[in-house]
Amino acid sequence: MKIIFAKDYEELSKKAAEEMLAVIRSTPDAVLGLATGTTPLGLYARLIEDHKANGTNYDRIRTVNLDEYKGLPASHEQSYAYFMRHNLFEGLGIAPEQTNIENGMAKDEAEECARYDALLDAMPRDIQLLGLGSNGHIAFNEPKTPFGSGTHVVSLAESTIKDNARLFASQDEVPRKAFTMGIRHIMQAKRILILASGANKAEAVFKMAKGPVTEDVPASVLQLHPDCTLIVDEAAAARLA
Ligand code: F6R
Repeated sequence: MKIIFAKDYEELSKKAAEEMLAVIRSTPDAVLGLATGTTPLGLYARLIEDHKANGTNYDRIRTVNLDEYKGLPASHEQSYAYFMRHNLFEGLGIAPEQTNIENGMAKDEAEECARYDALLDAMPRDIQLLGLGSNGHIAFNEPKTPFGSGTHVVSLAESTIKDNARLFASQDEVPRKAFTMGIRHIMQAKRILILASGANKAEAVFKMAKGPVTEDVPASVLQLHPDCTLIVDEAAAARLA
């Protein structure tokens, strides 16, 4: 795993934007694997700034998202579909037809997971962007998820429900289940870019990058990927030094 150190969140976002833009500019029909959450917001803002300033073209780009809450329609303000439209796609002029995400309202879970697995197999990601859970999760693959897993429905860990409650009116409103891309498909991406910012990620960063590769720390599997870059700010890198 290649590690790039950034002073703070600003610098992390700038370096992450450089990495993403290198792929977008060299591969105009790239498939981008994308993440939600707080961490990529600075990166997404910079991609939008760049698009406005330099006209970087997204007409042939396609996107695939990691995960979606179960039971939230795409119109719901807390759904990840809404998050992506609001924080990235509209700003880049990416049309809904260019984007893919699990359907949180799918009645038949197994059918929805099979649909997404087939889609992922048919759309190899040129780059997969990831955030890191404070418990070492990637996407919503919580500790002990088998490394060979495909798309599945998860019951979110208590720590994840707590971490995500800040985005809801109360902790009770956080959905308890989500569809998530599995670790097998994350590892299929040609390149992986994982971002970690803030002191609450320091332990997970250390375990991911320097600990044993174990299903107890899902992100540790990234040590086995041939082209994975971690961009980390000083607070999140505290235990690496
Ligand atoms: C988001 C996702 C999650 C987050 C992780 C970190 O699509 O799959 O794994 O990347 O929970 O979240 P933040 O960035 O909010 O700290």
